Amino acid sequence: MDETVLLVGGGGREHAIARALTDSDVTLYACASNRNPGIARLAAGFKTLDETHPTAVVTYATEINATLAVIGPEAPLESGVVDALEEAGVYAFGPRETEARIETDKAFQRRFMAEHDIPGCPDFATFEEMDAACEYIDSYDGDLAVKPAGLTGGKGVRVTGDQITKEEAKAYLRESEYTRVVLEERLVGEEFTVQAFVANGEFRVSPAVQDHKRAYEGDEGPNTGGMGSYSAEDDLLPFMTAKDYADAVSIIDQVVDALKGYKGTLYGQFMLTAEGVKVVEFNARFGDPEAMNTLPVLETPLLDVLKAARDGEPLPELTFTQQATVCKYAVPAGYPTDPSAGAEITIDEDSAGEALLFYASVDERDDGIYTTTSRAFAVVGRAENIETAEEIAEEALAVAGEKGLHVRHDIGTPELVQQRIDHIETLR
Ligand code: AMP
Ligand code: GLY
Repeated sequence: MDETVLLVGGGGREHAIARALTDSDVTLYACASNRNPGIARLAAGFKTLDETHPTAVVTYATEINATLAVIGPEAPLESGVVDALEEAGVYAFGPRETEARIETDKAFQRRFMAEHDIPGCPDFATFEEMDAACEYIDSYDGDLAVKPAGLTGGKGVRVTGDQITKEEAKAYLRESEYTRVVLEERLVGEEFTVQAFVANGEFRVSPAVQDHKRAYEGDEGPNTGGMGSYSAEDDLLPFMTAKDYADAVSIIDQVVDALKGYKGTLYGQFMLTAEGVKVVEFNARFGDPEAMNTLPVLETPLLDVLKAARDGEPLPELTFTQQATVCKYAVPAGYPTDPSAGAEITIDEDSAGEALLFYASVDERDDGIYTTTSRAFAVVGRAENIETAEEIAEEALAVAGEKGLHVRHDIGTPELVQQRIDHIETLR
């Protein structure tokens, strides 16, 4: 059967999904709130719509006779787009609204881990009253991560002893409009991500990736959706052992078991600490940027994985090209606190060289490509090791010219990778 796939979402992650899908013989359609020029070029049709609006997405899916749908971002999962597509008879690779709570409700997520004895859960407490949360901050002996329970695009968490003081944390809660928060033990270590395809009670994992949350070089500045990321030529990162990776995979295994019936990507965000692997969070979708590391080195056709998931067949074993990858995002000046949206950018795709160019949250209009308030585009270098992949990515950044976009040039450099290794050595 010829497949007609609807891709929901218009960021860098979705451009990576679109590329991976169109390696196979499919007819791809896409819809998102911004017109992503990279996806639009690969697709037979692209509709600009509110991707969190279930009826709008279902109407488009029906119009194009979609045989499969893939949901990129978390917001449509939370608003029930998968539930609506399935009611309309379209298989969607992504969890239903209630299953997506593993990401969309951090209080649920921590309680779920505790209830099912999933290892790696930090000490935590949940609050619906900010006064009570503030009292807990005062009485807690040690540093805490302050986490709004709902979705904040990766920008809501504040960590005491790292980004802010306890006094600032209390002020943050009092001035916010959050109605539910999680306060948890601050984890100290190195973060890494493992993404798994999950369906029919089975899962398949991909290599570990390290994202860089902070906006500025040297891990300074506010948290962002992720400024860039790297992966190595094998499953591990240079600061990890095979056991650390296996421990993370075992946690994913236990979550998949406990979730029963979950389908879609399960993204585990881990912290490698002195006490071993701990869970920072789970996401119910591919990571952005991490999808841009993983999908370009996935040799197994992504379409085969999705078809097996839909048809109730065993998921194919995944093979990867055994290349390292380095992804660097270019973001609007001022991102994430005061991003300058609406700036026209010109991208000279020919200067990407050996690197892959992924368009992200830009909007293509009749007269050009414009920035939004989020990340603009990414370049990804692939090579036999991280160092060479980093050089390829760095050279490709010339595609942007001098446009006032901001990049973290330190991501994937030998100096920063060595700092990660040294950090873990000190902790162990
Ligand atoms: P999240 O939205 O849960 O991914 O949190 C965003 C970022 O906050 C994470 O990537 C970590 O850098 C940091 N973070 C979250 N929870 C903790 C924790 N318990 N300890 C230290 N840092 C944390
Ligand atoms: N890179 C972090 C995320 O996708 O949530």
